[in-house]
Amino acid sequence: MLNRRVSILLGVLVILAMLFVACGGNNATPNNTTNVEEPADEPVEEPVEEPVEEPTEETAEEPAEEPAEEPTEETAEEPSGEEITLRVLAGNVGQELLLTQQAAERFMEQNPGITVEVLDTPDFVQDRLGVYLQLFEAQSPEGDVFQIDVIWPGDLAEHFIDLNEYGAADVAGDHFPAIIENNTVDGRLVGMPWFTDAGLLYYRTDLLEKYGYDAPPATWDELEEMAMTIQEGERAEGNEDFWGYVWQGNAYEGLTCDALEWIASNGGGTIVSPDGVITINNPAAVEIVDQAAGWVGTISPPGVTGYGEEEARAVWQAGNAAFMRNWPYAYSLGNAEDSAIAGMFDVAPLPAGASGSGAATLGGWQLAVSRYSEHPEEAARLALFMASAEEQKIRAIEGSFNPTIMSLYEDPEVLEASPFFGSLYDVFINAVARPSTVTAPQYNDVSTLFFNSVHSVLTGDAEAEDAFAELELDLQDLLGFETGQP
Ligand code: GLC
Repeated sequence: MLNRRVSILLGVLVILAMLFVACGGNNATPNNTTNVEEPADEPVEEPVEEPVEEPTEETAEEPAEEPAEEPTEETAEEPSGEEITLRVLAGNVGQELLLTQQAAERFMEQNPGITVEVLDTPDFVQDRLGVYLQLFEAQSPEGDVFQIDVIWPGDLAEHFIDLNEYGAADVAGDHFPAIIENNTVDGRLVGMPWFTDAGLLYYRTDLLEKYGYDAPPATWDELEEMAMTIQEGERAEGNEDFWGYVWQGNAYEGLTCDALEWIASNGGGTIVSPDGVITINNPAAVEIVDQAAGWVGTISPPGVTGYGEEEARAVWQAGNAAFMRNWPYAYSLGNAEDSAIAGMFDVAPLPAGASGSGAATLGGWQLAVSRYSEHPEEAARLALFMASAEEQKIRAIEGSFNPTIMSLYEDPEVLEASPFFGSLYDVFINAVARPSTVTAPQYNDVSTLFFNSVHSVLTGDAEAEDAFAELELDLQDLLGFETGQP
């Protein structure tokens, strides 16, 4: 808890520092260079003004006094300009921030008079949410466009404008209808779909061949067996750092995603059913979470209970894991020049449990415009631009971010860069949603209770049977819903 609070505070401080001091972190773009210059004038003005009230002697001494009058003129000139600054609060996992900055540059080229600053926000979903909430509580105009998670429209709708009133209605039909529906709250489209996500199993094609496997694991039991065999073999050959399976086990939203996949694949439901029944306390859920706890320290590093997406990717991309659960963004990075495993891996659907088929959690991000923005029209134009087919195509090719625009799944250039967009299309279409709509505006509390409960099982502090019996009671207290079997 303390850590989370500290990082939220840090996050806010970072953002405020960026806003007031000069947006220093993202120095790759010309827009930031411009921004750095503007506020840099301010500190010069202030010290100069103060001495004005002090003894005349001092004033006379310093030539710096002369400019003291200039800034007044300069500042007087500024308001007459039409320059607008829009701030995008964006993610920075993998190549995200870089791609967003590049999109901002293209927008600025087409929209003279608008400067776009792209601000980096914390990687972990709950930490990022904390930063956003601080800004919303203050009704701050400092953020115009917010990158929001697919689970947030219900919880955060009140803070965003209806994009349908700003032109989104004309293009909404190009996107996956389920995402548009997810982002529509009380008839208002509060987020423009930007990219979608689904959990995937990454596997090393070279190692599967080396150990005599002709296909990736179809079930969790097979994954355990293959991961252990490959791990033992690679260690025997001298790679002591090698692990069978890496995934997201930290106590945060990513664990909610991973654990939902285990549970749904085992026929254990989705924590709370879409019609509002708390279903988490069931034998199929208990069984598979106990099984996953058995991976910690055997086929997965003991530290996996502190892993997010990037920690898993670091082990995987260094060539130290046979399998990884992650989102599509790790595909293009895994094939990049600096990757130890470029060309040596592929992706498959996640393994099945007792239900007979694998489950992938639905993820993804939208662009929302703050209702506290001073420039909603321009901000909406920017959100629509960034979510347009042209821009989604660039992100798909450069960063293997799944488009939300359906036609891009038939685009030859997109499919060439990420063939799995085609071969695993069904995985994306059938991804399992977290219960964010039915529990809104309390989804974040539901998820927090859930991942803490699962985490206690992974770390050996509790058995899943007890943890989920308690979780059921906590969810009842929170939501007041009925309980039942999935
Ligand atoms: C990815 C998904 C997002 C999910 C997050 C969890 O960013 O797109 O929906 O909440 O991972 O870490």
